[in-house]
Amino acid sequence: MIRIQQLGQQLNATKSTLTIQDSRSGKKYEIPISNNFIKASDLEKIKDDKGSIIRSYDPGYMNTVNCTSKISFIDGDNGILEYRGYPIEQLAEKSNYLEVAFLLIYGELPTQLQYDKWCKKIQTHTFVHQDLYGLLSQFRYDAHPMGMVISSLSAVSTLHPEANPALSGQNIYADQKSRNKQIHRMIGSITTITALAYRNRIGRQPNQPHQQLGYVENFLYMMDRLNESSYKPHPTIAKVLDILFILHAEHELNCSTSAVRHLTSSGVDIYTAIAGAAAALYGPKHGGANEAVLRMLEKIGSKQNIPQFIENVKNKKALLFGFGHRVYKSYDPRAKIVKQLAYQVFDLVGKDPLIEIALELENIALNDKYFKDRSLYPNVDFYTGIIYKALGFPTDMFPLLFAIPRISGWLAHWCEFLDDPENKIVRPRQNYQGYQPREYVPIDQRKETDAYIHAPSTSFSTRRNVSVQK
Ligand SMILES: CC(C)(COP(=O)(O)OP(=O)(O)OC[C@H]1O[C@@H](n2cnc3c(N)ncnc32)[C@H](O)[C@@H]1OP(=O)(O)O)[C@@H](O)C(=O)NCCC(=O)NCCS
Repeated sequence: MIRIQQLGQQLNATKSTLTIQDSRSGKKYEIPISNNFIKASDLEKIKDDKGSIIRSYDPGYMNTVNCTSKISFIDGDNGILEYRGYPIEQLAEKSNYLEVAFLLIYGELPTQLQYDKWCKKIQTHTFVHQDLYGLLSQFRYDAHPMGMVISSLSAVSTLHPEANPALSGQNIYADQKSRNKQIHRMIGSITTITALAYRNRIGRQPNQPHQQLGYVENFLYMMDRLNESSYKPHPTIAKVLDILFILHAEHELNCSTSAVRHLTSSGVDIYTAIAGAAAALYGPKHGGANEAVLRMLEKIGSKQNIPQFIENVKNKKALLFGFGHRVYKSYDPRAKIVKQLAYQVFDLVGKDPLIEIALELENIALNDKYFKDRSLYPNVDFYTGIIYKALGFPTDMFPLLFAIPRISGWLAHWCEFLDDPENKIVRPRQNYQGYQPREYVPIDQRKETDAYIHAPSTSFSTRRNVSVQK
């Protein structure tokens, strides 16, 4: 992938082309190559004898470049991740989450003055609309907090009609101030919404945001304060969570970030787009993987069960959650940092026994041919779940601890999408393999098909069904 330092060289380079010969017609086509890709629209020149154009077929976007971006860089073979050119290791060591959020969204690290203003704006927006308190209190005690937060994010959209292009005009986000307002509100309110979801589930009154505390400290304060007049989270816990927030802030075109770009392309408001991205993140193959890792480790239960579990994975009866990545084909650089953080947390709160199972599982998998052949290494989620568990977060809160920081990455992509004139509404093509046109058949002339239409019945409906069937 081309990077800024190489851009000059690339522009001066002789134009490269790809020669394609269509065996159907014998015709040859010269397709320009730029930055190691060809434009799918250039394939439109290639047509069959009926005039149908050729297209590329790519389920899961395995080999498709979907946008030009300057936000983050991943070298999956060498385990490199950079935000705006800064190596993730340096940011984790020297920066903090709010500074990184600024970097991702505005492209440069803030000056002291910019940083102070930025933090103040975010902190102000930790105070959320009163209606959200009512909304969140209506969920059941056992509602998954991701479901609660996704619903709340889309509710925020209804509370700010002035920020909704459907109501206030398609161009409202062209105004940088309006855009900034949504950015401050989004980053500020997500911690409060998450803390409200948590407090509702544990049956406690919400805590109002604390203006003297930092971003992560305030989040922990809103979650954990009972009636102490000067509650402050332990600095090590706040620091570890802050680093985890840095590591989770951005990761180019993963499923949820692609979703935010996809939704933005339709012109929908940013809150609905973020709710959609959070919904994509909820899945166990993406942001829900940290939750899935923990459930997997708990199910394995002890080291002696690992060989059988590995066999099940190899026989495709189970998935080794926290392993494998679409882009990294070596050790995820974030996983290395997370593994070190786990020991800092254990020093403070005690070792979680699941770490022994995780270490053994990692060791066996890294030395097993199945995993080696497929370049499957631990990803960021492999050890985060163990840290969150050691810190006493309920398992179903884990995806939220991913979603909170990822909001800054989503917002950076939202801005980049809005500013790039090449972007259009997302509309892939399909490979239609269905019926040719056919005549509608009246219901009494239809033949029974093998469509499987059964769904499981609850014992309640079994009891009801025998009562209502005469
Ligand atoms: C992340 C993930 C979705 C990437 O998927 P992908 O790029 O589409 O890769 P594929 O699913 O095509 O995997 C390639 C091969 O490795 C296997 N594989 C990939 N991840 C695996 C895992 N975690 N456990 C077992 N096998 C795995 C696949 O079964 C496939 O095997 P095959 O060649 O015999 O069919 C996938 O690795 C996965 O599901 N991991 C577990 C969930 C997870 O930790 N997600 C968090 C990502 S940060």
